[in-house]
Amino acid sequence: MSTNDSAWWTSRAAEMAALDPAFAGEIDRLAEDQVDLLERILHLQPGDRVLDLGCGAGRHAILLHERGYAVTGLDYDAEIIALAKAAWRRRHADQAGPTWVQGDMREPPVQGSFDVVIAMDAAFGCFADDADHLAVLVNAFELLAPGGRLVMEVPNPYYWAHHQHTRHFPPGTLAADAHIVRTYRFDADLGRVDDHLTVFRSGDDACALPVQSLRAWAPTELCALARAAGGSEVAIIGMDGWRVPDQARPLDAATSAFMWLVASR
Ligand SMILES: C[S@@+](CC[C@H](N)C(=O)[O-])C[C@H]1O[C@@H](n2cnc3c(N)ncnc32)[C@H](O)[C@@H]1O
Repeated sequence: MSTNDSAWWTSRAAEMAALDPAFAGEIDRLAEDQVDLLERILHLQPGDRVLDLGCGAGRHAILLHERGYAVTGLDYDAEIIALAKAAWRRRHADQAGPTWVQGDMREPPVQGSFDVVIAMDAAFGCFADDADHLAVLVNAFELLAPGGRLVMEVPNPYYWAHHQHTRHFPPGTLAADAHIVRTYRFDADLGRVDDHLTVFRSGDDACALPVQSLRAWAPTELCALARAAGGSEVAIIGMDGWRVPDQARPLDAATSAFMWLVASR
């Protein structure tokens, strides 16, 4: 099944978590580094209100809440929100955690205003129609207090156009008991990066997981979309290969696998 809409995630996430619990969005070094960079570039102050759109199992929401910010995590998948709540309880059994909201980021059912809105790791860019991406940005800017900041992570198309590849992961690497073949394909016509995972288990037919298809805007296109949605001071930060740099740095077209859209209301 290939889908360019957000519904792919629920079934893909469940199938990936069944392969290996590590796929269920555990808090990892990458998330820690991302939160470090968010704190540096956004100059967060204790108590700042942060909205995490497409929060998944809460990697960033939990870390940010632990660091003293008032976090709301929004995701449309109730099972993933249950994972986020459980992850918080494992770390802080008796402390109130982030506010978790089930809902669609295109029409976020949240009130009030936020100092920061983030959408990390494939939470933004999954829709088939750019009108949906525009709606997400418009809503995000409306939810920001004046001067509030937005950060959204997306693939860098210049990188992915030259780094299409297929890799074989034997048992014990991506999944304990299965061979996995992962293919990243850049679709230049649609401006999307597609991530195909096929699982091979002895005795079973090959099983293709729902495809993660992400919009990969050229930086100028993405900045124009953000401005059209009401953003100002729009900028792009490049990642350091697949890693998160210590400080904001320009996009390197050839080596930054991902980029962050940064904008103010
Ligand atoms: C790849 S996961 C990233 C999760 C998290 N941001 C992280 O970095 O671990 C994408 C998340 O976006 C959520 N999502 C997709 N479409 C959505 C929508 N329309 N509204 C809210 N959440 C959505 C999915 O349920 C999924 O949890």
